[in-house]
Amino acid sequence: MSTEPSEFSQRYLRSWAEAFLNKADQHFSVLEIDWLIEEVSGRSRLDLLTTPEKEFSHTEVKRFQSLIVRRSRGEPVQHILGFTEFYGHRILVSRDALIPRPETEGLVTLALDFLRSKSDNLILDIGTGSGCIAVALEIEAPGNTIIGIDISKPALELAQRNAELHRIEVGWQLGDMYSAETIPGDSGQVDLIVSNPPYILDSDVVSLQTEVREFDPLLALTPGSDHLKPYRALAELASERLRAGGAVIVEIEERSGPEVMEIFTTVGISQVRTHVDLAGLDRIVFGLKK
Ligand SMILES: C[S@@+](CC[C@H](N)C(=O)[O-])C[C@H]1O[C@@H](n2cnc3c(N)ncnc32)[C@H](O)[C@@H]1O
Repeated sequence: MSTEPSEFSQRYLRSWAEAFLNKADQHFSVLEIDWLIEEVSGRSRLDLLTTPEKEFSHTEVKRFQSLIVRRSRGEPVQHILGFTEFYGHRILVSRDALIPRPETEGLVTLALDFLRSKSDNLILDIGTGSGCIAVALEIEAPGNTIIGIDISKPALELAQRNAELHRIEVGWQLGDMYSAETIPGDSGQVDLIVSNPPYILDSDVVSLQTEVREFDPLLALTPGSDHLKPYRALAELASERLRAGGAVIVEIEERSGPEVMEIFTTVGISQVRTHVDLAGLDRIVFGLKK
């Protein structure tokens, strides 16, 4: 009797997909194959695990194969699915904004720790993109006023779709961090400023993985030839807008910790420190307004 798996079985589809992506020289995680199998079958991970013998329909197999072909050409799995998970919440993604990254979740955790000390905070998320940080903060710590600001109108439209998905209220505003008058919040009235600004040098963009270089908007990746420019603007904003005791929390490129700390210290922000990500790399700078 043959032990070859059927072409409609989970086992066959998984090994076919792995071989196809390896042959295309595509860097991928097997988790991505799981997500695409869940997507085409409409079955939960638990169901797939507990009934591995259940076969897929011809239509499901064809759709799975077409999604794997897209992945083999470098399209991020999050774009194929149209969403990702951020801080345990679904976030819709598109080519108009950066795909939320797991490293950024650490910024949300620090912000939530800070918010615990006081309610009814005014929070600015500068460079909000998909709105992932603002949405996670509103879901996890309701009762504050959160404004997500971005220079990209299409990104703000995506952010609004994310707020609607979670049935929450976040204020979205078009603004440029380099023009303080376009950023909301009166002087000395803001409790918390969070930001994951573009921080990759323009000359380094060419060496990024295809799926980042070609699918994340350039505006979200690089501020140009001066990778510290956003932090100078954010430090000025923090120094002017934060109330005494207010906090600023920004994501950084792992080698920029000392320079970014100095920028915030120079404008009078106190207790400036870095926090590491899950890989042990400096990823966040935190400071308080005196
Ligand atoms: C690295 S992405 C971060 C997006 C999102 N906050 C996240 O963590 O996934 C940076 C965002 O900053 C926005 N941005 C770039 N230049 C800006 C500027 N001068 N003023 C405001 N936002 C800007 C980009 O459009 C992009 O959405």
